[in-house]
Amino acid sequence: MLHPRILIAPTPAEAGRLAADQFEALIQAKPACVIGLATGSTPLHLYRELIAREKAGKLDFTRVRSANLDEYKGLAPDHAQSYRRFMQENLFDHICIKPENTIVPDGLAEDVSAMCQAYEKQIEDWGGVDLQLLGIGHDGHIGFNEPCDHFPTMTHEVALTQMTREANKRFFASIDEVPAAAFTMGVGTVMAARKIVMLITGADKHEIMRKAFFGPVTPEVPASILQFHPDVTLICDAAAWGE
Ligand code: PGA
Repeated sequence: MLHPRILIAPTPAEAGRLAADQFEALIQAKPACVIGLATGSTPLHLYRELIAREKAGKLDFTRVRSANLDEYKGLAPDHAQSYRRFMQENLFDHICIKPENTIVPDGLAEDVSAMCQAYEKQIEDWGGVDLQLLGIGHDGHIGFNEPCDHFPTMTHEVALTQMTREANKRFFASIDEVPAAAFTMGVGTVMAARKIVMLITGADKHEIMRKAFFGPVTPEVPASILQFHPDVTLICDAAAWGE
């Protein structure tokens, strides 16, 4: 069992700055790096910090390529709740990254298997992910890999659990509007990243953080697989860490 590097910050904003430090170090060392990005509330401080650092001249996204973890099935890229739109509004529209260098699974894909294979191939053609950002769901999901009886390897379609749909309904008019399915990188896709940064904030994530990093490795807690990754940095705010 390998152990993550653990960084604890007093606040979510400070946790975002620590995560930004990881991206800054990578982009300075490898300007044409490949980053894996995530949506949700947790990375917002990080994204604001990355935007500010590029504006301040500390970072340059011109040559960076990015692949997002997941997308809701059935949502068009410009849908208010699509993850493509989230990324545009919260990061891509404010930095110098080239549109053709950003990929998000296509929520409207008709040939799901072809789309998923092409997604994997694009990441491979770019040379693999250098730094993958992850959040964690209350059920231990990473991307949209929900608890199940195995660790899915490649990008694939998943049915969302009731817990995830409940957690995400805050962004929709009602739970009925939360898509029932999504496309997500597999656990194998995530584990292939050379370096992983998991950002966890809020007391409501304390219990799942303990299970994922200090409990048994099981597909019932998909994030627990990270215990087998050789380069994981876990960044928690004090509330998630339990102080
Ligand atoms: P959150 O989502 O950052 O909105 O809590 C995390 C996740 O579900 O992976």
